[in-house]
Amino acid sequence: MANDVRPESMERITNEQLAKSFIEEQVDILRRQIGDKKVLLALSGGVDSSVVAALLIKAIGRQLVCVHVNHGLLRKGEPEQVIEVFRNQMNANLVYVDAVDRFLDKLQGEADPEKKRKIIGAEFIRVFEEEARKLEDISFLAQGTIYPDIIESHGVKAHHNVGGLPEDMKFELVEPLKLLFKDEVRMVGKTLGLPDNMVFRQPFPGPGLGVRCLGAITRDRLEAVRESDAILREEFEKNGLSGKVWQYFTAIPDMKTVGVRDGKRVDEWFVILRAVNTVDAMSATIEEIPYSLLNHITKRIVNEVPGVCRVVYDLTTKPTGTIEWE
Ligand code: XMP
Repeated sequence: MANDVRPESMERITNEQLAKSFIEEQVDILRRQIGDKKVLLALSGGVDSSVVAALLIKAIGRQLVCVHVNHGLLRKGEPEQVIEVFRNQMNANLVYVDAVDRFLDKLQGEADPEKKRKIIGAEFIRVFEEEARKLEDISFLAQGTIYPDIIESHGVKAHHNVGGLPEDMKFELVEPLKLLFKDEVRMVGKTLGLPDNMVFRQPFPGPGLGVRCLGAITRDRLEAVRESDAILREEFEKNGLSGKVWQYFTAIPDMKTVGVRDGKRVDEWFVILRAVNTVDAMSATIEEIPYSLLNHITKRIVNEVPGVCRVVYDLTTKPTGTIEWE
């Protein structure tokens, strides 16, 4: 489609002034396109959906209905931040869906990584569809499609979890970021007043911590993944690594290791640390975390995360390792 091709004359949005012009132009276009109708958006809290939400809130305010599905696989503090930023600060019309039990029940006992991904994706569509059916007079569906999605995946967001709504729910699409590259989306988000830790965040997979709680997910091990990830992120933030390293996280295998705590032998989990740099995620190198910081992070994790007695650091590049563990 012609309007899915970025014109050569389109200036790259490299500063706030250019972002402001883009925002003004889009607000005008969106108001004309949408009129007094309602728009639905699945707001994950990731960069793209957050920037679309902020742009639409500026253009049409509470005519935008944001649905935030908490599937229990988000990082520590994420659902709270979505509520704080969008509902409390931006006065968004935000529907928060606590679907944690639903997702974890569906995932129970499933150890196959691709089946886990399918369950999470399918359940997401089901929850989103149910919420959409409760709402009246929705005319448009907003999506955080960006230009790389169009170039690389023919307009379908890579690993996209939304889509696949039934035929009777095919709304007209609103995709105001579809000609922008990621750095431009970030610039627009920053100019719209979104917090830096939302706009400049590292990539996070759609299935979230579900693919980092390796094998069959259990609630206690999932909590250990969430807590260890929060410690790693906090320490990277404090030590100036969060804006420098491309992706960093923890994973916990479905296996116990022997340890010793208070003079007694224990059977507990071990946490894998991963911190990689890449340009396109096709290959990746390892961030050389300073030894003293590794040491500090390890001590914090074994002392603060219940059920964890050991930490290991994954030094495998991609290839042969992938970035995620499953
Ligand atoms: P791998 O593990 O394939 O990861 O080297 C490359 C990049 O893709 C992300 N990733 C995913 N993102 N859904 C997503 O949205 C997924 O199922 C998924 N699996 C991997 C991964 O985090 C890395 O940035």
